[in-house]
Amino acid sequence: MSELQIRELYAGYGDITVLNNLEMDVEKGEVVALVGANGAGKSTLLRTISGLITPNKGQITFMGRRIDHMMPHQVVEMGFIQVPEGKQLFPEMTVEENLMVGSFNKRARKDRERSLKEAYEFFPILEERRQQKARSLSGGEQQMLALGRALMGQPKLLAMDEPSLGLAPIIVERLFNTIQNIRKTGLTILIIEQNVQQALEMADRGYVIENGHIVLEGKGSELLQNEHLKTHYLGI
Ligand SMILES: Nc1ncnc2c1ncn2[C@@H]1O[C@H](COP(=O)(O)OP(=O)(O)OP(=O)(O)O)[C@@H](O)[C@H]1O
Ligand SMILES: [Mg+2]
Repeated sequence: MSELQIRELYAGYGDITVLNNLEMDVEKGEVVALVGANGAGKSTLLRTISGLITPNKGQITFMGRRIDHMMPHQVVEMGFIQVPEGKQLFPEMTVEENLMVGSFNKRARKDRERSLKEAYEFFPILEERRQQKARSLSGGEQQMLALGRALMGQPKLLAMDEPSLGLAPIIVERLFNTIQNIRKTGLTILIIEQNVQQALEMADRGYVIENGHIVLEGKGSELLQNEHLKTHYLGI
């Protein structure tokens, strides 16, 4: 069974159904990209996996266990950790305090010092800025902090919601390089991106979501050749 398996998933907000019979698999150690237009349901999917939204129907299985009716903290404890849309940092806290928040779950807490060292190895700039308030960081540094904080939680599967949003191309390049380094540690990664080309180049596999439903899936390199994807997402 896949590390993350989603079957016949329906979820939304009150009477509004956003995810509409969604199915997805993420294998252990894989990098999977999820792409789709604004409002397609990408963030809703992450919120549903995280336990912030309870599905109306369907199954979500993570590492062999059903998580679709778990509380958010239980899902985190199992190792599904997300870098949420908009980063959600604590602006008045220092860089290091923000990182420490990431290791709050029971599993991660005992390894805090080692995780902090690792986070600083991935992002030396964060060590330089460790006593600085998060709000005073640049956009790119804030994204690194959000990613560093997620790593502090000792993820088994790291989910990222548009990590490159609002960043200059050169910073995006650097961020993607860092993600490549993170994947070498064997971590499973689910990445949501508007940067379709770069995301699919990096990913082992990709999914395209439209109106809360997966309409295309395949190897990253194959999807990049797909006519529908080219026309609707790459504008070529
Ligand atoms: N809290 C909410 N209450 C009601 N509807 C919501 C809520 N959050 C999102 N929606 C609706 O759900 C749909 C999917 O939104 P979602 O945020 O999942 O899209 P997305 O694919 O992440 O888009 P984007 O690329 O703009 O971030 C949209 O129609 C949105 O208006
Ligand atoms: Mg979103």
